[in-house]
Amino acid sequence: MSLKKELTDEIIKVTSKAAISCYKFIGKNDKISADKAATDTMRNEINKLKINGEVVIGEGELDEAPMLYIGEKLGLGGDLDIDIAVDPVEGTNFVAKNWPGALSVISIAEKGNLFNAPETYMDKLAVSNKVPFDATDLDFPLEKNIKNIADSLNKDITDITVCLLNRPRHKEITDKLRKMKVNMKLISDGDVSGALMVTNEKYNVDIFLGIGGGPEGVLAASAIDAYECKFQGRFIFDNEKDIFRAKKMGIKDLKKKYDLTEIIKGDSIFCATGITSGDLVKGINVQKDKYITETLVTHKSSKMCKIFTREDIIKT
Ligand code: FBP
Repeated sequence: MSLKKELTDEIIKVTSKAAISCYKFIGKNDKISADKAATDTMRNEINKLKINGEVVIGEGELDEAPMLYIGEKLGLGGDLDIDIAVDPVEGTNFVAKNWPGALSVISIAEKGNLFNAPETYMDKLAVSNKVPFDATDLDFPLEKNIKNIADSLNKDITDITVCLLNRPRHKEITDKLRKMKVNMKLISDGDVSGALMVTNEKYNVDIFLGIGGGPEGVLAASAIDAYECKFQGRFIFDNEKDIFRAKKMGIKDLKKKYDLTEIIKGDSIFCATGITSGDLVKGINVQKDKYITETLVTHKSSKMCKIFTREDIIKT
């Protein structure tokens, strides 16, 4: 079974409204309020849809998040059972500081088809679909992945671009990349966008890698699913609490490496609306009587990957 294409319009509306509700917090140095506004709106809007939805990636566990918590049931009900992954604000610092690249994000799949990921870090790799699937692997040494990408794309190693979060934990990787004279695109936040950079040559990123949020890893996998790019992720469990939660979620092998097809299966819809303008989409444009939003939307079964512009009348 596939998800009806009309559902994409409804999901675009949800992420657009959530993004708009953040507008007043852009540049206000208050990421908590920005996230709360988007979370409240996203939840209200999803609750208007004729779906039996369940949050599988959300704002946290019930004891940490009052809304959009993992396991929360959403929607008006009906015949359509779906799993929902949300990140009302991906890049809360970007909104707080009025920096480029903040997004409001949702991914949906049919029930049981979206991975229920714990709130922990994940080691990730996303690679352009121009590179053969088996040329890269999370378990290959970094040098081998880079060399294989360069060989498959018929490029010099010095022309390969790697995107990764600018974090001290990546020092070993950045030292090696510097030594190989590989181009680095170091991002301060927002690794869902980082992974999406491999989907189109215009972003000039050949591989995204490194450690970031696990929930963002699931969203990244679903984001690039329709582009048929490669994604692999491995959760990092380094404390008893995370190990306990993972086991509770049914994860038996804590060191397992997940391929994209184990994270998201079947049909999917992914929407990311720009809050502040970035490489992928423009941010919210406020006119006299309306908001204009841009949303990157994918619908796997119809092979749709496009930027959608939506207008929302400002009610006075
Ligand atoms: P928030 O929007 O929740 O602030 O997350 C931004 C983000 O950069 C993610 O894209 C990324 O996966 C994660 O934070 C990285 O976490 P950390 O800042 O702890 O390295």
